[in-house]
Amino acid sequence: MKASNLESKHILHSGISHPVFRLLQTPNVEISPHNLMYPLFIGSGREVEEMKSMPGVHKYSIHNLRPSLEPLVAKGLRMVLLFGISGSLPKDKIGRNADSAQNPVIQLLPKLRLWFPDLVIATDVCLCPYTDHGHCGIMNSDGTIDNDASIARIAEIALAYAKAGAHIVAPSDMMDGRIGAIKSALRGSGLGSKVCVLSYSAKFASGFYGPFRDVTKSAPQFSDRKCYQLPPGSRGLAARATKRDVEEGCDMLMVKPGLAYLDIVKQTKDAYPEYPLFVYQVSGEYAMLHHAAQAGALDLGAVLDEVLLSMRRAGADCIITYFTPLILDRLHPRSKY
Ligand code: PBG
Ligand code: ZN
Repeated sequence: MKASNLESKHILHSGISHPVFRLLQTPNVEISPHNLMYPLFIGSGREVEEMKSMPGVHKYSIHNLRPSLEPLVAKGLRMVLLFGISGSLPKDKIGRNADSAQNPVIQLLPKLRLWFPDLVIATDVCLCPYTDHGHCGIMNSDGTIDNDASIARIAEIALAYAKAGAHIVAPSDMMDGRIGAIKSALRGSGLGSKVCVLSYSAKFASGFYGPFRDVTKSAPQFSDRKCYQLPPGSRGLAARATKRDVEEGCDMLMVKPGLAYLDIVKQTKDAYPEYPLFVYQVSGEYAMLHHAAQAGALDLGAVLDEVLLSMRRAGADCIITYFTPLILDRLHPRSKY
């Protein structure tokens, strides 16, 4: 057969002609359990409850979480991210129940530390599930954010979770100066070197949070979050927000949502290669893949592998994902046991 006039150096197929060669073209993008963080919704009911807007995702409580987590920990689960659900607890202007003795996360933390001594426990820190107006900060009477009051309150809540046993506090409120406020509260209580601050540093005002807001009943009761979450088109503000949080002393960074913001993931990793970078595959991204697979439009396992790979390739060190149980199963096929 006649060789084509394609130059040898332009032949790519030879370099991917064996599975091992393909692995060599895929450096450092595999997933190990420590590259995953599993978000958990914590309420106070007796029974485990499946969430209608997020099929396959459940609400747990101190009464039933232990047996539900045991098999996942056995499969290698390293990190969880706790979200409190206020349930029947009253909501008010300052989110009193975010850190009250009745808060389900505050109650669960010491138990979780005892049950799973090797599990890393992160807590989301925000006001929206606990405020009557559903915003992530404290409001002035004209409906604008009172930033100073907000960061003082957020720092108080972060400190309460840290004292109750959280290894990581992760503020998702997007108020200005919250990282500095949290750091100084932790340092003031002797926890400055013991508790890690994971900043939701580039969090965009996204339509992909819909199912989550339904689950946590945390949708704003008026207006929206566009005055504190980042405009989806803004690369520059994402860079400034990240730089600001780094300067205020956060330990780790995050981009949220994931798939629609992979350029921001790369931009963040390129600017701060020395900071672990988390990417949050949010509720809408979960729902999108779940429903598309249910409808027979795509093969969930294959597409999920591809999406995770894209996040790792863009620069994610850790992916926060509701698919964590499925991914752990794919890492440890049943036949290995
Ligand atoms: C609340 C918060 C939200 C998410 C995490 N923390 C929603 C929001 O900001 O409106 C979204 C998570 C998801 O969609 O999976 N501060
Ligand atoms: Zn919030």
